[in-house]
Amino acid sequence: MTDDLLSYRSEFPILENTTYMISHSLGAMPRGVYDKLRSYADLWATRGIRAWAEGWWNMPVTTGNLIASLIGAATGEVVMHQNVSVAVSVLLSALDYKSPRNRILYCDADFPTVIYVLESQRKRGADVMCIPSGNGLDVPLDALVDAIDERTLVVSLSYVFFKNSEKIDIERVVRKARAAGALVLLDVYQATGIVPVDVKKWDIDFLVGGSVKWLCGGPGAGYLYVKPSLYQKLEPSVTGWMAHEHPFAFETGPIKFAGDSTRFLHGSPQIPALYAAEAGYEIINQIGVEKIREKSLRQTDLNFRFCDQSDYRTRTPREPKRRGGTVVVDIPQGDAVVKELTSRNVLTDYRPGAGIRISPHFYTLDSEIEATFDTIRDILETKAHEKHLQQRGSLY
Ligand SMILES: Cc1ncc(COP(=O)(O)O)c(C=O)c1O
Repeated sequence: MTDDLLSYRSEFPILENTTYMISHSLGAMPRGVYDKLRSYADLWATRGIRAWAEGWWNMPVTTGNLIASLIGAATGEVVMHQNVSVAVSVLLSALDYKSPRNRILYCDADFPTVIYVLESQRKRGADVMCIPSGNGLDVPLDALVDAIDERTLVVSLSYVFFKNSEKIDIERVVRKARAAGALVLLDVYQATGIVPVDVKKWDIDFLVGGSVKWLCGGPGAGYLYVKPSLYQKLEPSVTGWMAHEHPFAFETGPIKFAGDSTRFLHGSPQIPALYAAEAGYEIINQIGVEKIREKSLRQTDLNFRFCDQSDYRTRTPREPKRRGGTVVVDIPQGDAVVKELTSRNVLTDYRPGAGIRISPHFYTLDSEIEATFDTIRDILETKAHEKHLQQRGSLY
């Protein structure tokens, strides 16, 4: 079988010498990033201050347009932030937690950074309710949906969960939220670039994500989408001059918010990170996420097959419609196994309570998946991981 996506391998230098199974954490760097960062430096070097008018000022929106096409949003509807934490902080600062509709719902299987921001809203009057998953891993979707009622202001959740790569039925959540008059905040960090996302079809109110993972965009580029019909009702208190209707009028006093998505910006943007991020976005747009998903389903199946051959327990739902791009493999002493894999140039990671996360992406060879499992088997047979048992922690 021919796999035409493999023609993109040469665009990713690290693939020449590394088995790269960690795109759920940091996608491989596209070669094009060198040129993007050079054009950033060239524009600054040659055009000086004029660079703002010649592209920089609008980059939070123009770079956002490359995300908009990946999530089903229209041009101009996505703004770039430094990361998800900042994007959610800006967004939530616009909400009014007036009783009786002041409840935020989330579940403990979700990524902690958003949880920290949600929990911090208690100080502003939010009634924050965490739905427990029991094992901290499996998504308690039934309980979350049941909990949505007329007291719910926002229900916050991921589309694909970071620990077990479970993909949830978002349309079910939105249906219940609409019936109860609640808003939905969806984190698509573990989805965009590997699983199709359609913000309009699903009628999502707020959507956030970032670039470090499947988008191969590197750090410093998170994104925020807000449903346009909600703009007028939302005035963030975490704000700055980029959110002003006429920033270059330098008016003092209370801000007059822009009428469009830029009302959710704040101060001067992270220009170099936006340049760097575009190289990955362009490749993903060129290929199309449907095509990436098709390959991902085939290769995650292959992962399951190798797990079964070795009787490894998996933590990711097997049903195609319920899984994202990662297969999580629960092997005893998985933390130490990952350290040994890394020393052998096979990159994966480990999440406590879940296991080893293994992720093929559009640039992955089937033989790399086989090599990953062969290496795991060899490590376990020779007990080569045991020398790492005393080392604690990880930086990724
Ligand atoms: C689902 C999800 N949300 C958010 C983040 C990170 O948020 P931030 O961009 O604030 O670092 C991650 C991982 O880094 C994640 O997996």
